[in-house]
Amino acid sequence: MLRPSRFLAALFAAVSVAQDTCNEPASRLYLPDPPYDNYIYFDCHSSSHVILTSPMSNSNFSILGPRLLMAWPAGNSGLAAYFEPTDGVNGTLTPRLENSTSTGEILNPIYEPIEGSDPRVGVSGSVNFNVPANLTIPILGSIRTIRDFAEGSSILDPGVQGGLRFSQSDDNGATVNRTWFDNITTTVLTFTPFDGAQPVIIDSNSNHLLFGAGTYRFNASFNYPHLEQLNQTEALNPQSADLIQQQPDQTTSLSFLSYEDKLLAGTWRFLTYFGRDSMISMLLMQPVLSEGENGAIEAVISAVLERINRADGTVCHEEVIGDYATYLNLKENITSTEPRCDYKMVDTDYLLPIAMQNYFVDTSTGQQRSDEFFNTTATFLVENDGLTYGTLAEITISKIMNATSAFASPGGQTIQNLIHLRASEPVGEWRDSNNGLGGGRIPYDVNAALVPAGLRAIAALSRAGFFANRPEWNETADRYAQVWEDSTLQFFEVVVPQSEAVSLVESYVADGSLSVPTNTDNITGDMTYYGVALDGNVPPPSNASSPVVPVMNTDDCFRHFFLNTTNQAQLSAFLNQTADHILNPFPVGLASDVGLFVANPAYAGNASFAANFSRGAYHGTVVWGWQLAMMGAGLGRQLGRCSSSNVPDFCNDTPLYNKVLSSYNRLWDLVENNEAQLSSEVWSWNYDNGYQATPLGSIIATESNIRQLWSLTFLAVRREKFGGSG
Ligand SMILES: *[C@@H]1O[C@H](CO)[C@@H](O)[C@H](O)[C@H]1NC(C)=O
Ligand SMILES: *[C@@H]1O[C@H](CO)[C@@H](O)[C@H](O)[C@H]1NC(C)=O
Ligand SMILES: *[C@@H]1O[C@H](CO)[C@@H](O)[C@H](O)[C@H]1NC(C)=O
Ligand SMILES: *[C@@H]1O[C@H](CO)[C@@H](O)[C@H](O)[C@H]1NC(C)=O
Ligand SMILES: *[C@@H]1O[C@H](CO)[C@@H](O)[C@H](O)[C@H]1NC(C)=O
Ligand SMILES: *[C@@H]1O[C@H](CO)[C@@H](O)[C@H](O)[C@H]1NC(C)=O
Ligand SMILES: *[C@@H]1O[C@H](CO)[C@@H](O)[C@H](O)[C@H]1NC(C)=O
Ligand SMILES: *[C@@H]1O[C@H](CO)[C@@H](O)[C@H](O)[C@H]1NC(C)=O
Ligand SMILES: *[C@@H]1O[C@H](CO)[C@@H](O)[C@H](O)[C@H]1NC(C)=O
Ligand SMILES: *[C@@H]1O[C@H](CO)[C@@H](O)[C@H](O)[C@H]1NC(C)=O
Ligand SMILES: *[C@@H]1O[C@H](CO)[C@@H](O)[C@H](O)[C@H]1NC(C)=O
Ligand SMILES: *[C@@H]1O[C@H](CO)[C@@H](O)[C@H](O)[C@H]1NC(C)=O
Repeated sequence: MLRPSRFLAALFAAVSVAQDTCNEPASRLYLPDPPYDNYIYFDCHSSSHVILTSPMSNSNFSILGPRLLMAWPAGNSGLAAYFEPTDGVNGTLTPRLENSTSTGEILNPIYEPIEGSDPRVGVSGSVNFNVPANLTIPILGSIRTIRDFAEGSSILDPGVQGGLRFSQSDDNGATVNRTWFDNITTTVLTFTPFDGAQPVIIDSNSNHLLFGAGTYRFNASFNYPHLEQLNQTEALNPQSADLIQQQPDQTTSLSFLSYEDKLLAGTWRFLTYFGRDSMISMLLMQPVLSEGENGAIEAVISAVLERINRADGTVCHEEVIGDYATYLNLKENITSTEPRCDYKMVDTDYLLPIAMQNYFVDTSTGQQRSDEFFNTTATFLVENDGLTYGTLAEITISKIMNATSAFASPGGQTIQNLIHLRASEPVGEWRDSNNGLGGGRIPYDVNAALVPAGLRAIAALSRAGFFANRPEWNETADRYAQVWEDSTLQFFEVVVPQSEAVSLVESYVADGSLSVPTNTDNITGDMTYYGVALDGNVPPPSNASSPVVPVMNTDDCFRHFFLNTTNQAQLSAFLNQTADHILNPFPVGLASDVGLFVANPAYAGNASFAANFSRGAYHGTVVWGWQLAMMGAGLGRQLGRCSSSNVPDFCNDTPLYNKVLSSYNRLWDLVENNEAQLSSEVWSWNYDNGYQATPLGSIIATESNIRQLWSLTFLAVRREKFGGSG
């Protein structure tokens, strides 16, 4: 049950085996992030990310231990090897990778052409164990399996682990391999003693590998169709080529995540297509990304269109490919390697028209490419075979018009008509951990920003001639947008009187034993903010007010970046409170030395909110690089309106304008002070006479990706110079 593309890839591989050496030099990155050591290697044959975890004296061994992990973009595949010291004392085993004695490099490529099939590719290296070690858990196959194991309940499917095969190999080494559920691909991991180390022993009762103290060479490889990478020049537009010299780490990282038919969200945990991540990255990074056929922008938009659910227009959140797809198919008694998609999100649909407008309407390359592009026939999902990109886009736009019409209708501005999470899902937008919305069902970012911005884009697309079957969208979409822009904020507003605010912040710090300054001197008036969601669990009557989930947050950035709102009083008040949250230090506001926290539960006055939004929560009092980028870009856009032809009122309100400008500059100071972690996904902190950044994975089992696509957007989002008061 192979897709034609795989047959073709195999054929092509067979024909092109002659090219054993790459024309371009290999790319390498070393990214230390103790206790993780990250190495990225890629060339024209394959791409690998290798992470060695070596515990430190202060590590929490219930969440991390010695581990060697490899992640490969092709098929979202990889392997993990968990080690323990044979003496059983956690903390004594601290493995290190060693440079190759022949090349001097930590990683070297494996490339073995196989006639009539995909080549075997991967990496080799050397690992040193300071004390005897036991490889207790090998996981070979999909990154999804490894991610679920690492973050979840540490349970492995016997169907996956049952496929492991152990064998003694040459030179006193040992091999563990596993053939995927497709019966074709095999992941192979081999260790060979080096420099006098003891032979590797296969623990015959229990299928574990035992090592002495010393150095072992490893080879890790698999044979699966290759992805066509965009090198740094190909991922960027010609005007941005200088970035390759100026920001080699970020442009190399961008290239590692960029392929002709999709951009990947991050490495190692999300090394595959994600709709939200790739579109937000594209929108923030558009000024530097390559246009045209086989460019990065079209890779993003085509990947989204390919994966649309034709039945209802929903945009795919995450693709499921490779071994995990075959595994999930098998669980449904389907023998197939076909990819699948996860459609649970409610925010991602709205990003599609914005991405389409920004490229196909607003750029001249996009205008020229439009006819050919939307005439392309989808091939990725069998369900979409034969549908053009144009047809698929229209199905999504129809869904949006339908879902947003009730709220926009006369008298329709009720909570019931707002966009809710899907009934069976605890998540639905970017704060997609189970506590990310504090139990809320009606997200703030979607309703107050993404919906109206998506509608504005639909109107612009319609005016440019898109969706000829629905000519009325040129006016209806704008009419809906105006209502969603002007009449949604009020539902999410929280005002905390000054004295109550002081006591809430003091109790938050004291009750949570946080040992951070309360900064309550900074509370000089009532505190206003827009909660992260509405509870939504309110029985009819339909217009009953729903409690706001009382968590301050950074999601204001969506409105600033995506919308030029026109209700002047509302815009001024909105900018005023965002500026307060950036100028006020946590826990009064959101700012700390390590960046803006994406959530602040201090005003909830509730211990379970405080715990669920802690510094050890994925969407808690932690910093996400891309939220800093979108806030920087968003405030920049609003300040930029002051020198446009249509100047908003706040520009002429000198104290307010100056406050917004100060908050913009404060934000950029924080960004510049955190360059070391800016390109990673998310980071947490310790407090010791100030906030210090620390990997999230040193606090909870959820690790941060060392490089995340949307955190690389600082390649395009820059501090701008704005004039003094307007
Ligand atoms: C020791 O490490 C193992 C594996 O990392 C872990 O399961 C176990 O809980 C640790 N023991 C202690 C006492 O932390
Ligand atoms: C590997 O070699 C590089 C220079 O080639 C050196 O900087 C680095 O310290 C070496 N690493 C180890 C682990 O020996
Ligand atoms: C290696 O680890 C496995 C799994 O924890 C255990 O069953 C086995 O006894 C260990 N072997 C040695 C020699 O420590
Ligand atoms: C995997 O291991 C088994 C058992 O040693 C061996 O028969 C098989 O050839 C190996 N497969 C690959 C691709 O190395
Ligand atoms: C793999 O082989 C097994 C055993 O022959 C068979 O049951 C299964 O359907 C095959 N899987 C695929 C995806 O072809
Ligand atoms: C990228 O590939 C193109 C050919 O497609 C080549 O001309 C260019 O030099 C390469 N750039 C880099 C940075 O390797
Ligand atoms: C798959 O088949 C098994 C055995 O016939 C059955 O028990 C199971 O319910 C089936 N699963 C699905 C999802 O149909
Ligand atoms: C779209 O594709 C069809 C069939 O491939 C072709 O006949 C038609 O000319 C194309 N239209 C455009 C605008 O490219
Ligand atoms: C919107 O979709 C619902 C089903 O989800 C359908 O019942 C309704 O007729 C649609 N409304 C319009 C205006 O298309
Ligand atoms: C919308 O399109 C109609 C023709 O279909 C046209 O008469 C009208 O002026 C357009 N409205 C706008 C705002 O462009
Ligand atoms: C917050 O308080 C600190 C002193 O605790 C002060 O330096 C800072 O200017 C204050 N910020 C605002 C916005 O009031
Ligand atoms: C908002 O206005 C600014 C300045 O006029 C402009 O650069 C930007 O593209 C506009 N944004 C949107 C989403 O319309």
